[in-house]
Amino acid sequence: MMTYWIAAAIALTTLVVTAGAPALAQDAGEVAFAKQCARCHSVAKAVEFMRAHPDAEERAAWLERKLSRHHARDAAERKNIIAFLERMNRIAPKK
Ligand code: HEC
Repeated sequence: MMTYWIAAAIALTTLVVTAGAPALAQDAGEVAFAKQCARCHSVAKAVEFMRAHPDAEERAAWLERKLSRHHARDAAERKNIIAFLERMNRIAPKK
């Protein structure tokens, strides 16, 4: 009986850890936004910028250009921030 519970506990821990890993990786952009952007822009404001540029390809080019000179000089960090903003744009309710 004891062995069964230990095995179940180990299985559950593995499940939680594996399920948590992709979420953590995705949030690199959220962390970078909080660190480098949030003191001046809310996420809601950022979604407004995104919606002012509805064409996805144009928006990607525009963000890349803008942010390379605007608080996100590091290319990897900029990529994460843009991915985070795209995700917020997808899930934020439409007005
Ligand atoms: C010190 C304050 C400050 C920080 C930090 C900051 N911004 Fe800005 N941001 C501004 C101001 C002021 C403007 C308007 C002037 C301009 O376009 O540069 C602006 C403009 C923008 C625009 C263009 C808005 C438009 O409609 O043209 C975007 C997009 C933007 N910021 C995103 C970001 C992101 C993403 C970050 C983090 C990487 C960030 N900002 C960090 C102050 C800031």
